[in-house]
Amino acid sequence: MGQIKKALITGITGQDGSYLAEFLIKKNYQVYGIVRRVALEDETHRLWRIKHLLKKIKLSSASLESYASIVKIIQKIKPNEVYHLGAQSYVSYSFEDEFSTLNTNINGTHYLLSAIKEFSPKTKFYFAGSSEMFGKVYKKKQNETTRFYPRSSYGISKVAGFELTRNYREAYNLFACTGILFNHESPRRGFEFVTRKISSAVAKIKLGKQKNLYLGNINAKRDWGHARDYVKAMWLMLQQKKPSDFVVGTGEMHSVKEFLNLAFSIVGLNYKKFIKIDKNLYRPSEVDTLRADYTKAKKILKWKPSINFKGLVKEMVLEDLKRFK
Ligand code: NAP
Ligand code: GDD
Repeated sequence: MGQIKKALITGITGQDGSYLAEFLIKKNYQVYGIVRRVALEDETHRLWRIKHLLKKIKLSSASLESYASIVKIIQKIKPNEVYHLGAQSYVSYSFEDEFSTLNTNINGTHYLLSAIKEFSPKTKFYFAGSSEMFGKVYKKKQNETTRFYPRSSYGISKVAGFELTRNYREAYNLFACTGILFNHESPRRGFEFVTRKISSAVAKIKLGKQKNLYLGNINAKRDWGHARDYVKAMWLMLQQKKPSDFVVGTGEMHSVKEFLNLAFSIVGLNYKKFIKIDKNLYRPSEVDTLRADYTKAKKILKWKPSINFKGLVKEMVLEDLKRFK
């Protein structure tokens, strides 16, 4: 029997981190996670997505803003694989605080790559890139060769992370990959993102606990998949012979309006009666459409999504109905 593989996940308390940890535990990895110090002091609130896994994983507090603390962790664990998911991930917030978004997202990625290069060069590295890098899209469907045109400091930070990852691969021969992941959701999605804002509101409205739902641009269109499918693609990227970058999505695009319509119809309600448009929720520069061409992932990783739009919306609404009852 081979040695047990060690995987280190940054952002393990987030949506993707929790699904990825579950996935890797099933694959018999020893999973390590980096969390913020406050998370260890307030498990109930900050570790809710991984509380069922706490006995099976090893958590350390470290700061993505400190090179020294990243170096310590990399030296101590010498992981076989690092999944760098930790980031300020909320696009709207990046307009309010560009500085911390750029600092955390760019420096965190740079520190990890540099620490791996110096102290554990055999470690394989996954960077959580984003379809937000395509922003104001150049092509109807976006793939690995489509030009980037980010529309927020969040998008810019992900382009920088992508370029750093590519450069460390080419200059220092690291096994470093970027997954350019399109939007992926689940019942573990943060409440500020539009899909969860809708599914939680649908449940609360149905249960008589909320009256209206305030939204911004409901004409925006996204390629929405399920997070459980997408963490598998992350792992597959690090199991290939050669490191490379991959677009991961469903190839289908739906508007926020379509999401609303379907989510409300699941509980027998018409969204038009509850929705209020709040112009303050519009973004200074919007990404209007995103749609993946994931041909490369399909061909090389043999990956494809297993949960469709309808299945995703249904799961989110039904889970929120249970949660808010
Ligand atoms: P998420 O639920 O918002 O999780 C973000 C994680 O990053 C959390 O664990 C959070 O820790 C951590 N984090 C945030 N700021 C930090 C900081 N300053 N220092 C240390 N940790 C920090 O995001 P997600 O949906 O799982 O996404 C995972 C990654 O994929 C992110 O990098 C995101 O940008 C990227 N991505 C997501 C999508 C998507 O549709 N979900 C698509 C493309 C790319 P706390 O719990 O302590 O806040
Ligand atoms: N959050 C939010 N809240 N979005 C709204 C609202 C609202 O009240 N009303 C309309 N929208 C629109 C936004 O303007 C955007 O066009 C769309 O809904 C999706 O917004 P989010 O769910 O916040 O996600 P996002 O697409 O901006 O970013 C997510 O996906 C990226 C991948 O493309 C995040 O997970 C990013 O971290 C990720 O990189």
